[in-house]
Amino acid sequence: MDKTQNDMTPHDAAEALRWLSEMGADEIIGEAPVNRLAAPAPKAATAVVGTATVPAAAPVVVAPGASATQYQSLAEIEAALDGFDACPLKKTATKLCYADGNPSARVMLIGEAPGRDEDIQGKPFVGRSGQLLDRMLAAVGLARTAQDRESAVFITNVIFWRPPGNRTPTEAETQMCLPFLLRTIELQKPDVIVCLGATPAHRLTGKADGILKLRGTWVTANVSGRNIPLLPTLHPAYLLRQPAQKRLAWRDMLSLRQMLDVR
Ligand code: URA
Repeated sequence: MDKTQNDMTPHDAAEALRWLSEMGADEIIGEAPVNRLAAPAPKAATAVVGTATVPAAAPVVVAPGASATQYQSLAEIEAALDGFDACPLKKTATKLCYADGNPSARVMLIGEAPGRDEDIQGKPFVGRSGQLLDRMLAAVGLARTAQDRESAVFITNVIFWRPPGNRTPTEAETQMCLPFLLRTIELQKPDVIVCLGATPAHRLTGKADGILKLRGTWVTANVSGRNIPLLPTLHPAYLLRQPAQKRLAWRDMLSLRQMLDVR
């Protein structure tokens, strides 16, 4: 394991092991041996390792109808959202739920919309699916609480207020939030984006296929002229309902690990 994984706390390590065992991993085995003590390989011009391959296809240009370029920091975006009364979801939500994690992280995770626990705490992915997400991340040496950008993640959602009763947000609500999300990507400058579930995957890849088809395949999203490798994966809430699908999510986590290791 590399330095960042050696730095895991016993709690992180126990959580990571729990996730591995939940996924059915009962042996330490991979398709190829990985020596994580070896010096890092020279960075490849094109990221190709195992399944972590960004296809040469033209990047998907993600452009909102409106822009939020007037905001110069993530704190300014959060303040602007706090005072943004145009989105009807704000009226029924308890709290704004903008982001969590480390803004200097290499990895940005994008979910769908806050649920009940997130609405109460004002932070994304703090309920049961967030706990599962934390275990998945820990298994590949990542954590929202990490201080170093290599092992940190930054987490946000397509929608920043809880839809009443967790209903699907309308197109208008989604369009209202999108400029803030895209400005967040511009300012946070992630090396890679992981979309949790169909809603962010559809918005950022421009594809309408089901998440089971989209997941696991890297695409390139072009956000304001910057090409960013993007991996759609399964939403942790779906994994809680369909635990057998955790093996697919595990493949995606390994693919994310590989992509980070070569970039
Ligand atoms: N599901 C999401 O998509 N986002 C959250 O923040 C919580 C649950």
